[in-house]
Amino acid sequence: MVLVNANYLKLQAGYLFPEIARRVKAFGIANPGASLIRLGIGDVTEPLPQACRSAMKAAIDEMGTLEGFHGYGPEQGYSWLREAIAKNDYQLRGCDISAEEIFVSDGSKCDSSNILDILGDQNRIAVTDPVYPVYVDSNVMKGNTGQVLDSGRYQGLFYIPITVENNFEARIPDHPVDIIYLCFPNNPTGAVASKKQLGLWVDYALKNNSLILFDAAYEAFIQDNNLPHSIYEVDGARECAIEFRSFSKNAGFTGTRCAFTVVPKELKGKSTLESKEDVSLWELWSRRQSTKFNGVSYIVQRGAEAVYSSAGQAQVKALTSFYMENASIIRKELAMAGLKVYGGENAPYVWIKTPDDIDSWDFFDYLLNQANIVGTPGSGFGASGEGYFRLSAFNSRNNVEDAMSRIKAL
Ligand code: MLT
Repeated sequence: MVLVNANYLKLQAGYLFPEIARRVKAFGIANPGASLIRLGIGDVTEPLPQACRSAMKAAIDEMGTLEGFHGYGPEQGYSWLREAIAKNDYQLRGCDISAEEIFVSDGSKCDSSNILDILGDQNRIAVTDPVYPVYVDSNVMKGNTGQVLDSGRYQGLFYIPITVENNFEARIPDHPVDIIYLCFPNNPTGAVASKKQLGLWVDYALKNNSLILFDAAYEAFIQDNNLPHSIYEVDGARECAIEFRSFSKNAGFTGTRCAFTVVPKELKGKSTLESKEDVSLWELWSRRQSTKFNGVSYIVQRGAEAVYSSAGQAQVKALTSFYMENASIIRKELAMAGLKVYGGENAPYVWIKTPDDIDSWDFFDYLLNQANIVGTPGSGFGASGEGYFRLSAFNSRNNVEDAMSRIKAL
């Protein structure tokens, strides 16, 4: 007899984006002539930067020679890429992060769920609500939760609302939790966290011996120079935070796959509640990666390295600016159409209050059927997302402008 991981049976029907894809596919079959505009999943649309393409082409040619061929690479990533990341993303911003603490991977989604492999099953876990669904679902799969409640929340998780009412701030809980997932700039609300707010979380984590899992996949979209791009801009974060970063959204690598996770050497945990001995999270993550992961391809890592060349930096800036102009158009046009809009100023997501308090999935169906526009229902990100809707700024200018005209015509 085959026994399955019964925790999977606790999961709600489908992962959000495949469920949207399913509904869109059914709509497409029923309406073959419809011209759909997809502002749902945050998938980039613009071509890869020239600097990345040239570097990957050169790497392919190298691989075609005896001298330049590369087999298995280091599981943690090539040192030249880790050095470039540590210098450009951290040291130049005043963060004390070394190349040894960078683990190159094929995605932040994978890393933010795989990290549970090295964490115990008795941790008290906090997530925001709304939240990137991967954090919740991967905890359900691991058995860290009870059953789902009518509200869509899971027993055993601690939810921190980030809503209009609290200005989308993740407020510090009044009791200890062991692990906290934070994502800023935020997916899905597009809200940001100031250095002061992150400082409160770092103080809390240090006081309670907690671990912050900080997802900074959207940091490149920050326009306000006063906002932190990394949690390590806050003193003390090296002792309490892991950070996830990605080349997916800044350099258009969603289909190319390259990301990285920062695990500072100071991070420690315990093997049991009674244990006096510290265990290094860096050691465990390194052990996990070298066992279960064979690294990102040489070619792709060369492409990622090119992001840090001067041409690459200019091209990535142009890409993020392009998407942020889209976000600004969405914000402006929807506000003119009388909708309440949030986010979209330092993040590629615009968070919209549904008109007349329409249910999020009903609004999804309405936009799909009446305007042939695909967005993401807020309730898919958690109970506090009900009554909201997310539009992504990742699309061509024509499509964004066309989508706005269609919405205004409704
Ligand atoms: C989203 O739309 O929330 C993101 O694209 C999901 C992801 O990056 O995995």
